[in-house]
Amino acid sequence: MKASKVRVALPGRSYDIVVGSGILSRAAKWVRGDRAIIITDSRLRRAAAELSASLRRAGWKTTVLPLQASEKLKNFERIYPLYGKLLEAGADRHSVIFAIGGGVIGDAVGFVAGTYLRGIRWVGVPTTLLAQVDSSIGGKTAVNHPKGKNLIGVFHQPSLVLCDVALLRTLSRRDVVSGLGEAIKYALAFDPAFYRFIQAQWERLCRLDPGTTTRLVRRCAAFKARIVSRDERDLSGIREVLNLGHTIGHALEKVTRYGSFRHGEAIILGLRVAVRISAIRGHLKAGEAARIDAFLASLPVPPIPSRLKSSTILAPIRFDKKVREGRVRFVLLERAGKTILDHGVSRADMVRALEGIRR
Ligand SMILES: NC(=O)c1ccc[n+]([C@@H]2O[C@H](COP(=O)([O-])OP(=O)(O)OC[C@H]3O[C@@H](n4cnc5c(N)ncnc54)[C@H](O)[C@@H]3O)[C@@H](O)[C@H]2O)c1
Ligand SMILES: [Zn+2]
Repeated sequence: MKASKVRVALPGRSYDIVVGSGILSRAAKWVRGDRAIIITDSRLRRAAAELSASLRRAGWKTTVLPLQASEKLKNFERIYPLYGKLLEAGADRHSVIFAIGGGVIGDAVGFVAGTYLRGIRWVGVPTTLLAQVDSSIGGKTAVNHPKGKNLIGVFHQPSLVLCDVALLRTLSRRDVVSGLGEAIKYALAFDPAFYRFIQAQWERLCRLDPGTTTRLVRRCAAFKARIVSRDERDLSGIREVLNLGHTIGHALEKVTRYGSFRHGEAIILGLRVAVRISAIRGHLKAGEAARIDAFLASLPVPPIPSRLKSSTILAPIRFDKKVREGRVRFVLLERAGKTILDHGVSRADMVRALEGIRR
């Protein structure tokens, strides 16, 4: 299958996201260098071996470092030994680090690439759908701190992102749905036709049909690339649109200590709440809200644990104390494909919407 490219345009550090099926072994075509350090999720050793062999055929020297990938890896102590391994492998400023894995590997290895020798080139090879449609693009790298997730990191754009949808074949069903949740977010935020595409192709997407999945990943990559090009460091508020579904989604992840939901599953629930609040606040017509909610409710996502009170779920949300009645900035919908930023959402609106999806 032909690979297609999406460009992330940034001054002096533009790069391509290459999307296709079975493209990993063609990596040398898109990146120049002579020494590669391939840091891989140990579940993807075979992919790492394939990449290593293909780079060697193109004249590169390669070292493969497998890692147990779980959220625990995003920790200073856990990643510290990697710097020693890079030194041992002779990695210098001209070397290229390849990161093969999901968002955890991308965030942690991207951070190492951004700090080793004050930053060397890296290539993202995202292997979860979530990472292909979202986390591998944009240069946000991070490790966690006991006080919170992703608190320590750097912006360090990759030199290339290779989205090979063939690598997704071994993903669990839950991880596929999680990635699709993030794709639905883009669709609802930016493009009604893409939203209809996801609904119509749902079964094919769940089966990871290569052509359909490639289309999905390419489309999401294009949305993310456009936003990142305009607001690389998340300062101007443009990137904020990507938080659709995330106010409640993040709160759900936090109160369940990241143990009950995959990220995209929490986002699907967060989208349901956002859709209902959009209707409550009069931005979105009740009929359209009901149709969107019916689709989201039909997706296989674990229920919110019944022991959690709605007030507990909303507790992590930082209400702006300067504003009357303590309100939050909420990304909501006017219709599928059009967002609106609302500062007037009250706690009562949130409780009502949240209770609504728990019935
Ligand atoms: N940098 C960003 O912009 C950004 C954006 C969103 C999320 N994130 C981060 O991404 C992380 C979540 O990423 P994730 O959902 O990809 O999780 P993950 O990296 O933990 O992967 C999920 C699971 O799938 C396994 N896996 C990975 N690829 C596989 C494959 N091809 N086949 C079989 N199993 C495979 C992993 O070993 C892991 O068990 C979080 O740490 C989050 O903070 C970062
Ligand atoms: Zn997200």
